[in-house]
Amino acid sequence: MPTTIIIGTQWGDEGKGRIVDYYAAQSDIIARYNGGDNAGHTVKAQGLSLALHLVPSGILYPDKICLIGAGTVVNPLALLEEMQTLREKGINVSAEHLKLAAGAHLILPTHRALDGAAETHRGHEALGTTNRGIGPVHADKAARIGLRAGQMRDPGAFAEAVGALVELHNAQLHSVYGKAPLDPAQVVAQMHAAAELLAPHLVDGTALIGEALERGQRVLCEGAQGTLLDLNLGTYPFVTSSSPISGGAMVGLGIGPREVERVVGVAKAYTTRVGAGPFPTELTDATGEQMRQIGREYGTTTGRPRRCGWVDTVILRYAAQVNGLTDIALTKLDVLSGLPTLRIAVAYDIHGERHTRFPAEWGAAALEAATPIYEELPGWEEDITHVRRRTDLPANARAYTARVEELIGVPLTFISVGPEREAMIVAQQP
Ligand code: IMP
Repeated sequence: MPTTIIIGTQWGDEGKGRIVDYYAAQSDIIARYNGGDNAGHTVKAQGLSLALHLVPSGILYPDKICLIGAGTVVNPLALLEEMQTLREKGINVSAEHLKLAAGAHLILPTHRALDGAAETHRGHEALGTTNRGIGPVHADKAARIGLRAGQMRDPGAFAEAVGALVELHNAQLHSVYGKAPLDPAQVVAQMHAAAELLAPHLVDGTALIGEALERGQRVLCEGAQGTLLDLNLGTYPFVTSSSPISGGAMVGLGIGPREVERVVGVAKAYTTRVGAGPFPTELTDATGEQMRQIGREYGTTTGRPRRCGWVDTVILRYAAQVNGLTDIALTKLDVLSGLPTLRIAVAYDIHGERHTRFPAEWGAAALEAATPIYEELPGWEEDITHVRRRTDLPANARAYTARVEELIGVPLTFISVGPEREAMIVAQQP
């Protein structure tokens, strides 16, 4: 069973990039299976700090295949820009190394315009999207009128299809939202040029992965966003439009569940969220601000300040269930150093009843009504960024991580204690 899936257990931004980076060293193919350039994965290594959006976090290993899978949604202009930035940093993004699945759906500038118009239209009920066209492109996909990357193989026919979709989007922009249309000729020309540049990268992603698995190679599936942003299982409607959960790797890459050996859930040692929607353990006080400052909790994609709060094991147990987690990677433990007391949410009080299971299907209202029930543990003062063995952590940090582990019921395989690639405790060899 040569497949490992890395997923986010919270609302995204858990630090998946560095865990993917760790596993990438032992993998042959690193494949993104969901999301688009709404994602932002930061990898710090080889003296570089890379902010990746579409390109898999394995790109730093020149001998691996990086696949942008069929379950992703790709803005060709954003992908070309990201490739150019990587090239300027000396990273190989050639067609042999970076592949784009023919089944991935394409984001046009008009999808972005529709995203922005829909958000403005929602007024104070806006979702706080990243404005990258994610909702509209998935809507077209579900309506079966979307454009797929494979169409770029024939740039002429592709440009024609782009023109037709832009006309439809322009009609929506005008009649539904009263917005100005985009110039179809300009969009067509941009997409035609992008198609010529991206065509050499196109591949049948499912076939690529199938052949690799048959050869006994190892596939690493990189999830974007997090469990609670899942379209089906997240905090709907404050979710993204794809499936960040481990099941998303099955539908997004064409892998069967029996191929999967490990599902590693990345969890921040506290909780963050960007965008609107309920967040039971949110801290709007000085402690939340301290987490934001020390943890540099600002969006990689939009620069927005992230909302911060205590770790929530109701959420993490839910993530363990819906993803079938085999391991947890607890990130940013160092950010909690210096806090006198730490709180761990163990259950919710909802209308006077104790709930230990996350009430996802009851929607935002149930979660808005949830008051976290906390356990309090003493904090630690020590700098832990140099610690590489779990037994060398200060006693209070050991107690905190042990309690979180016990409450989730899944082993903590990794604990990150600083942003550098090396600043990680590998608690148990994978
Ligand atoms: P969309 O994916 O741009 O439609 O945004 C929907 C929701 O998902 C918003 O709350 C975004 O802030 C959130 N979101 C999307 N991508 C990410 C991510 O990579 N990290 C954290 N939140 C995200």
